[in-house]
Amino acid sequence: MKGERVTVRGVVKHYGSVAAVDGVSVDVQAGEFLSLLGPSGSGKTTLLMMIAGFELPTAGLIEIGATNVTPVAPNKRNVGMVFQKYALFPHMSVHDNVAFPLRMRKIDRAQIERRVGEALAMVQLDAYGSRMPTQLSGGQQQRVALARALVFEPPVLLMDEPLGALDKKLREQLQIEIKSLQQRLGVTVIYVTHDQEEALTMSDRIAVMNDGQVAQIGSPASLYSEPASPFVADFIGKMNFLPVEYLGSEKAGHQIRVTDASTLSVTRSLNGHAFELSPGLSLRAAIRPENISLAARGSGGPDAVPGTVDTSIYLGTHQILLVNIDGQSGPPLHIQSPAGRDLSAFERGDAVDILFQADSIHLFSGKGEAQ
Ligand SMILES: Nc1ncnc2c1ncn2[C@@H]1O[C@H](COP(=O)(O)OP(=O)(O)OP(=O)(O)O)[C@@H](O)[C@H]1O
Ligand SMILES: [Mg+2]
Repeated sequence: MKGERVTVRGVVKHYGSVAAVDGVSVDVQAGEFLSLLGPSGSGKTTLLMMIAGFELPTAGLIEIGATNVTPVAPNKRNVGMVFQKYALFPHMSVHDNVAFPLRMRKIDRAQIERRVGEALAMVQLDAYGSRMPTQLSGGQQQRVALARALVFEPPVLLMDEPLGALDKKLREQLQIEIKSLQQRLGVTVIYVTHDQEEALTMSDRIAVMNDGQVAQIGSPASLYSEPASPFVADFIGKMNFLPVEYLGSEKAGHQIRVTDASTLSVTRSLNGHAFELSPGLSLRAAIRPENISLAARGSGGPDAVPGTVDTSIYLGTHQILLVNIDGQSGPPLHIQSPAGRDLSAFERGDAVDILFQADSIHLFSGKGEAQ
């Protein structure tokens, strides 16, 4: 089995006056694992259904390999699909469910037996062929669905929230199983999820969708460290937003005012931001919890912002402190460090100096704390 590239070019889907997908172009490489990540209603399923052939685009085209498949029926596209639930034929045994796509393709009996055996072994269900779907757990049922989607060796596998109905532990186990299977087989996967951790764990690249469009596409690391908009910054990982005022740019960096009493230097470049800076402009500063640290009040130096610890949360591998900026009414900042380091000395009520890493502050246009 070898993956094929999938090209989505200028694809639009209207349902009446609703633009469910509103001009999406994506090049998925052969053998790539691409996730479509976005909030409910952002158009993920609609886009996947058009790639599968169950929905016809209002405009644009879809290629698999070098072939324009836009007008091609789903069963002629050679694409495997796994849905969130209700995917198995309830009246057929596990064996017959997995054999179904091969029977549809009129493959001879001996070969069907061999390939069903291989597919069930691949998902560690060799011993379950004679069971009915109702005799399986949710995780086992999704493994059967996966075996059925892969048994005819499609070069492209589409998955729509396949783990959405499973509990967290099983989900994490299957994430790793699917990822390792995909790497072993070299199949191209397009995977819909609204769980950002799942997307970060599994994907080579993530397309973040919002309102029927791709807000940003990139590797998990690039989306995390270089979000192009507050929407992406907020959707991938935890991000603190605070309203600030732009004061001017100097050699030391961009100067911003956080409260009446405190200003900061920002040394990240603003390249790629399409807005003009003028003194007095309201901006939104955004910073990750791990890029903020604390010092005892008075010891933080000139760029420290005074604050007060509200809550301390211990989470095993790391610790989170919620800290209010003095003189500011917004939600508390989330600050994070590995457990037992840096933050463990602070507790509720402590007056502290908040230190923002100057090269990790993103500046976006607009006002306010949230996005
Ligand atoms: N058959 C349809 N008829 C009319 N509107 C539709 C239809 N299918 C989807 N929509 C609309 O298109 C938009 C995108 O829906 P879609 O199902 O693609 O979102 P999604 O990102 O998969 O959301 P979720 O995470 O909730 O599954 C929504 O506003 C939805 O109401
Ligand atoms: Mg959906």
